[in-house]
Amino acid sequence: MSHRLVIFDTTLRDGEQSPGASMNLEEKVRMARQIDALGVDVIEAGFPMASEDDYRAVQAVAREVRRPVIAALARTTPADIERAWRAIEPAARPRIHTFVATSDLHMQHKLRRSREEVFDMAVEAVRLAKSFTPDVEFSAEDATRSDVDFLRRVVAAAVEAGATTINIPDTVGYTIPGEFAGIIGTLRERVPGIGNVVLSVHCHNDLGLAVANSLAAVEAGARQVECTVNGIGERAGNASLEELVMALYVRRDVLPYVTGVVTTEIYKSSQLLSAITGMHVQANKAVVGKNAFAHEAGIHQDGVLKERRTYEIMTPESVGIKSNRLVLGKHSGRHALGKKLQDLGYGLSRPELDRAYARFIEIADLKKEIFDEDLIAIVHDGMREIPETFALKLLHATAGSQRPSTATVTLEAEGRDEVACAIGDGPVAAAYNAIDQITRVRGRLLDYSIRAVSRGRDAMGEVSVHVEFSGRAFTGKAASTDVVDASARAYLHAVNKALHLSRSLSPPSETVVAAALPRIADAPMAPRAKAAPAPPPTSAAAGDLRQTGGRQASDTFVRLINLV
Ligand code: KIV
Ligand code: ZN
Repeated sequence: MSHRLVIFDTTLRDGEQSPGASMNLEEKVRMARQIDALGVDVIEAGFPMASEDDYRAVQAVAREVRRPVIAALARTTPADIERAWRAIEPAARPRIHTFVATSDLHMQHKLRRSREEVFDMAVEAVRLAKSFTPDVEFSAEDATRSDVDFLRRVVAAAVEAGATTINIPDTVGYTIPGEFAGIIGTLRERVPGIGNVVLSVHCHNDLGLAVANSLAAVEAGARQVECTVNGIGERAGNASLEELVMALYVRRDVLPYVTGVVTTEIYKSSQLLSAITGMHVQANKAVVGKNAFAHEAGIHQDGVLKERRTYEIMTPESVGIKSNRLVLGKHSGRHALGKKLQDLGYGLSRPELDRAYARFIEIADLKKEIFDEDLIAIVHDGMREIPETFALKLLHATAGSQRPSTATVTLEAEGRDEVACAIGDGPVAAAYNAIDQITRVRGRLLDYSIRAVSRGRDAMGEVSVHVEFSGRAFTGKAASTDVVDASARAYLHAVNKALHLSRSLSPPSETVVAAALPRIADAPMAPRAKAAPAPPPTSAAAGDLRQTGGRQASDTFVRLINLV
């Protein structure tokens, strides 16, 4: 039996289902490229039936990422399977992944189907998928709470119908290692033809056992493992790719299995995902957390200095973490920055390097020491995959124990400046109110977090926000030495994403429901100021935006309301 494991990455599908982890098309493609560089075998790019966005994102990944297999998820209905196929048809190596629940609990309460009906649904789905592509994966959802004999029958029928991969999900993270290994062993013993297909596992982390269960299944004969970067996914997430791969690597003495994963790409993948989603990994997260290689206790430091292996079972370099050396200063040139970023694993395009350099110079003026973490934050800040409809030009805010705070904001939209002043409970709220006045759209802040990128009083603050526009959440992220500035930029990032999405959705709806647009008048704000030499407003309601190009943006938002 081969000891090569297939690594199936579902960061863009199951991972993206976790609250706050949604990604737009450009972000998914960027992440897919990095997951490709990580060397996984299969990328599950999405669930095309879920939405038009998902469909387009899967299609874009299928077109652009050519080495790995690209999988799309589908329920057992013909509509789902056909749509999944249309989305992945452009892939060099397409896979349809179809699933149906096999536990009595799910069949009775969720599907309201009998065992025999579910059995037939599974078989027909695999047959239909097989008519589109030879590479078909079948998953028995909630397998670990299914009657093992029924599970065995369904799996046997799916194999018979032509499935090439059989996936056994622990959908609710319920099983424990010994039990899961038993289920895998039973299927291997009792399903005819199982030796001719790849047996896969997909473990959720509700009890913190996803990686342990996956490894137990591998030892029992599973040869594909489904996982996600940073372990993101529904509820407590999925098996974490980095933990799984590093466990296999570090303990290769007792786990003699190989993967195609390039371990030195792990940290970069983790960082990119955090940058895109705004979901930071906890400091003590295995392998990629901030403290994963930190040695605090004196006795540990002493040991590591004498012999690294006393307290380190793997090196930071093995997962692509570069040492936190002091690097460039404000006199460093674009070439030096490009070279340094290359060393950190970021090969930037010319426009990306230009943007990163401009930001680097701004930061270098404000900050004495620039660390690798600062550079990575700058790079991610500059990786704006979407056009900046509104760009922050100036921000002045007041704060203190006396409320309210005030903020004056100048935004540039289509080459023209627009200024607004507003008050708020604090400087961030005031800045957001002022931005809302200019964009004429009120975003609802769902989540806000801030962290220091590196150390010292002049450390950059990195702000992540989730903002809802018209019932739809967008993430925004930015870093700056000034936390109010970072907060405003992060918010604008989310605004620009919402605008970009509304523009990319076509055709625009005919019915414009302007009344649905949240109005600035709802907010307690100070009067708007106009930047000279902009021409005077033509109407109180829409004049300012019309002149600055904001009207177009405002209209686009109205369309967004109708489309999402
Ligand atoms: O957790 C699960 O059961 C799934 C299936 C769709 C594979 O994500
Ligand atoms: Zn899942």
